[in-house]
Amino acid sequence: MEALAPYVQFHGRGLEATEEVARIMPARTSNHVLDVGSGIGGPARYFATRFGCKVTGIDLTPEFCEVARQLTQLRGLQEQVKIEVGDALVMPFAEASFDGAYSLNVSMNIADKSGFYREIHRVLKPAAWLVLSELARGDGGEPNYPTPWAASERTSFLSTSEETRQGLLEAQFDVLTLRSTVQEALEFGARSRALAARGEKPPHRAVMLIHGAIARQAMENSARGLAEGKLIPVEIFARKR
Ligand SMILES: C[S@@+](CC[C@H](N)C(=O)[O-])C[C@H]1O[C@@H](n2cnc3c(N)ncnc32)[C@H](O)[C@@H]1O
Repeated sequence: MEALAPYVQFHGRGLEATEEVARIMPARTSNHVLDVGSGIGGPARYFATRFGCKVTGIDLTPEFCEVARQLTQLRGLQEQVKIEVGDALVMPFAEASFDGAYSLNVSMNIADKSGFYREIHRVLKPAAWLVLSELARGDGGEPNYPTPWAASERTSFLSTSEETRQGLLEAQFDVLTLRSTVQEALEFGARSRALAARGEKPPHRAVMLIHGAIARQAMENSARGLAEGKLIPVEIFARKR
């Protein structure tokens, strides 16, 4: 598991950010948790192992789901972690199915934010929790593209953190915490660049693995966006009202 971590945690700061999310996630062994935009399943397997809970992931990209299922099988977690191909905006789950949900670095690709929050709200049980980790729009203007989530501005849908807070409130969530992790992201970037300059591998390599030719430019634009205040990583903890 540790050996794969740099490649399967497909979001900023990789495993480090996943571990921070775990600290605010009140998951229990008996819980069934939803991963919205589960990618290749690194977070789903991490939380299932750490909390002993069941995790169902849903993702729009069939190839990612296939890799996620194979890695889950290799880890022997197939009874605990299920992966479905599907759209976060119309999920194939009944109302009040889950005790909690999280979504890591997904919403930047979703134009219909209120539909996204509404659909998550629908499948959660009353008072269930929601953790979102995403990049918010800062006040420094539009970032340069490509970024790790979008080839151009056309497929990028960033909200400010206040718009996200408002959207969640309107979707009947109480927002209990919303914090910027920009300092952590800048420090992580500096550490990674120092390692690369010494010819060592940086701790997070999922973007390089998955994005191929545009990866380097995308990472540079993302780092520049953070440094210039155009991008603000945020971690949000909310509860269904
Ligand atoms: C940056 S990856 C994050 C993957 C995973 N959450 C992680 O942190 O390892 C974003 C994921 O969101 C998925 N995605 C984007 N739009 C989606 C949608 N409307 N419904 C479901 N998944 C979506 C993409 O296919 C991709 O796997």
